[in-house]
Amino acid sequence: MTFTVGTIGTPRLLVRPFREDDLDAIHALQSDPEVVRYLPWLLRTREESQTWLAARIAASTLEADDDAVAYAVERRDDGRVLGSITLFLRSIEHEQGEIGFVLERSAQGQGYAAEATAAVLDLAFPALDLHRVVGKADARNTASATLMQRLGMRQEAHLRECERFKGEWGDLVVYAVLREEWDRLRGRAQPASSDSRKDLRSSPPA
Ligand SMILES: CC(C)(COP(=O)(O)OP(=O)(O)OC[C@H]1O[C@@H](n2cnc3c(N)ncnc32)[C@H](O)[C@@H]1OP(=O)(O)O)[C@@H](O)C(=O)NCCC(=O)NCCS
Repeated sequence: MTFTVGTIGTPRLLVRPFREDDLDAIHALQSDPEVVRYLPWLLRTREESQTWLAARIAASTLEADDDAVAYAVERRDDGRVLGSITLFLRSIEHEQGEIGFVLERSAQGQGYAAEATAAVLDLAFPALDLHRVVGKADARNTASATLMQRLGMRQEAHLRECERFKGEWGDLVVYAVLREEWDRLRGRAQPASSDSRKDLRSSPPA
């Protein structure tokens, strides 16, 4: 199975593969202290953003555990790149994925992150045959937690001091949504094929 990043259209956005000419937009948000405050990485120089972008352009498929693809979030109205959505394939065997999101400051608070993330989840659940998708955030990152709640994800954990975050112990919150929950939230019936796959798995060995 190979999943290749492609373009997804939403009412206000094109959620699409990154291109080399996205560097200015990406470097602007990666060098904004407010944007990176709760992200695990530090402010990036232009060269570091260029390296990040080249890696994201090169990594256009999901084939193995822990592969990741990144989507640029482009506003249809003016072609501005507002940020990125990253989709991780965490486990093929256990059908687990993970989602991450970053928007430039001026694009926050307008529903763009929710619109883009929902579009990626709509595609990823069936295309990757995922059973569950998680999102993780620094426990102080209320904007991220609110976004995940708004999407219908459930908080499953608050991990206390589970990692060293920028020189101090940091708490993480973990949110998740199952495919059947996502389909229900989006008003879709669970596809029959998933049910039959579950039946097969729960059958005792012959
Ligand atoms: C986390 C992050 C992506 C959330 O972005 P966001 O813009 O708050 O999220 P949404 O797209 O859901 O926008 C929701 C806001 O838009 C408002 N909004 C305006 N128009 C809207 C519309 N048409 N549809 C939906 N919401 C709309 C909502 O009321 C809400 O505002 P509120 O929070 O003041 O109530 C953003 O804060 C960010 O990039 N932070 C920096 C990077 C980061 O920490 N990433 C997360 C790592 S885990």
